[in-house]
Amino acid sequence: MSLLPKIPHVLYGGDYNPEQWPEEVWEEDVRLMREAGVNIVTVGVFSWALLEPRPGEYVFDWLDRLLELLHANGIHADLATATASPPPWLAKLDPESLPVTREGVRLWPGSRQHYCPSSVTYADAARALVEQLAARYGKHPAVALWHVNNEYGCHVPACYCDQCAAHFRHWLQERYGSLDAFNEAWGTAFWSQRYGDWDEIQPPRAAPAFRNPSQEIDWQRFCSDALLELFLMERAVLERDAPGTPITTNFMSFFKPVDYWKWARHVDLVADDEYPDPAEPSSAVDFSASCDLMRSLGSRAGWVLMEQAVSAVNWLTPNVPKHPGKMRLGSYQALARGAEGILFFQWRASQFGAEQFVSAMVPHAGTSTRSWREVVQLGGELAQLDSVLGTQVEADVALLFDWESWWALEVPGKPSPNLLLPDQIKRWYRAFWEQNIAVDFAHPEADLSRYRLVVAPNLYLLTDDAASNLERFVDGGSTAAFSFFSGIVDSRGHVRLGGYPAPLRKLLGIVVTEFWPLPDDEPCSIVLGEQRYACEHWRDWIELEGAEVVGTFADGWLEGRPAVTRNGGAWYVGTRPNPGATAELVRRLATEAKVASSVAAPPGVEAVRRSADGRSLLFLLNHGSQEASVEIAGEQLDLLSGAKHSGRVVLDPFGVAVLTT
Ligand code: GAL
Repeated sequence: MSLLPKIPHVLYGGDYNPEQWPEEVWEEDVRLMREAGVNIVTVGVFSWALLEPRPGEYVFDWLDRLLELLHANGIHADLATATASPPPWLAKLDPESLPVTREGVRLWPGSRQHYCPSSVTYADAARALVEQLAARYGKHPAVALWHVNNEYGCHVPACYCDQCAAHFRHWLQERYGSLDAFNEAWGTAFWSQRYGDWDEIQPPRAAPAFRNPSQEIDWQRFCSDALLELFLMERAVLERDAPGTPITTNFMSFFKPVDYWKWARHVDLVADDEYPDPAEPSSAVDFSASCDLMRSLGSRAGWVLMEQAVSAVNWLTPNVPKHPGKMRLGSYQALARGAEGILFFQWRASQFGAEQFVSAMVPHAGTSTRSWREVVQLGGELAQLDSVLGTQVEADVALLFDWESWWALEVPGKPSPNLLLPDQIKRWYRAFWEQNIAVDFAHPEADLSRYRLVVAPNLYLLTDDAASNLERFVDGGSTAAFSFFSGIVDSRGHVRLGGYPAPLRKLLGIVVTEFWPLPDDEPCSIVLGEQRYACEHWRDWIELEGAEVVGTFADGWLEGRPAVTRNGGAWYVGTRPNPGATAELVRRLATEAKVASSVAAPPGVEAVRRSADGRSLLFLLNHGSQEASVEIAGEQLDLLSGAKHSGRVVLDPFGVAVLTT
């Protein structure tokens, strides 16, 4: 069982931009693609200006020849709809099709992604192009997947022009029905903000001081929905005119502007672009988190790593290359965590244009290079891994994560400026990662019955449905842990009254009566058992209402007061514990919830199991620059090396093993 019916293998390839090269090079490209085991390439992402050089005048002969060439060589296409970057003529035709920043600056052509999501001119031109592509290539044997647009929201997640203002008002009317309901939801009694007419409402453009938080949250919802409308417009054309071929678009990990829970329902498979910084030591862990998010967004049906760098990119400071072995290691990380395809940006390094210095499968220096050899090696290995297809990671733990809560949490004007959701998620995620405990991400309103333990880092915005979902979860005998500043506001962004976190107060057996955020230089610690640990940023003033104390603050005005509590299966952590304390809490929660590690591995070795129908594959990934030895049960076969191991496996620095019995 594979994600794409036309390719019953692990997908391998990358973005292919043949329009940057003379056609003689294409022949060499496909020869090298075959050498590297490439079975799919993403074509046409930035080809609109070539496919439609003048309004309504389409030129497809080059793409016809290219798709034929790929097909003749057994390579499939992930065919892009090419709508991510409009040609310069669109801006000339209608300058209002260009996006406008919060400060009122119009963004002009010359780069990419310069379109206003509410522009009818843009949408009409995009629709017409997709209709042409669908009619011409809908039945083409090379086309295995449709790639709609590219990285929605990248560069221009929001536009503040008048067309968007009108679109926003319409969206608000649909959401609230009446002006009274709208005014109530936005709390416009505050600061003389009451609106007497829909036409008075504006996007959150540059303003003198803090904006209305409810306006900010709705604006983020609207911006994500406006992009989704564009995706759905293209999707509808493809479904109508080119039925039968799966449709996707590429996500961007924990990308704040777009609510992927909402989007994931509309893609046939989840695809993701990932660029972990090779110079950043924590990036391997963060990358695993992104992979787990993608698996979860795709309801554990498998996902595709649509883009990653072979080595360096050109937008970090500095752009450090990947150490030999690290591209392979990262690729297996994705595979271990549910990916069924490993693709790159891009196939051949560009000679010109803004991405001249982004690495590629075929580098400027050609094929006598270590990076090409690594590309060929990986392609050869993945071709042997059909047995991975259809297996999946089974996690007993879920981290609750909700885009709406993220948006609401990070609207300025909070008790502390240090409330950044990714930081909180990463701190908890790392503790599970280091203990090799598999974790899914879940929306707070999702069915949680498959999990034994859920952890909610800073779940600031909590709906009534989510609160009852969590109550049911704990009442059913499972364990849930909430970190500070959770359950504070409702979906409008209004504070829930009656002591924090009001909707969880009974469940947790506590009430928080005051927040005590910490200046960065003020030390703070908690005591858990016999051990004292540092904590950061935040302290809650907790009053007990039936909960027992697990940990206490050890200094300052709150010395001796509860810091960590539990009420049966419902735990509460009223501060940001340091990594050591978070690890200790995770150990206790895992023991309590009877959740086990995949395998006992030394520090720096990531162990993840994928399984299905009696098949079980254990991925061991050594992130260290020294050999690592891992104890295993009985005799196991490494699918990569073909070696049989008994009792233990020794992994090279950055080495990988995929074991099966
Ligand atoms: C991605 C994008 C690609 C390319 C790549 C370079 O965000 O989708 O088109 O620009 O980055 O790192």
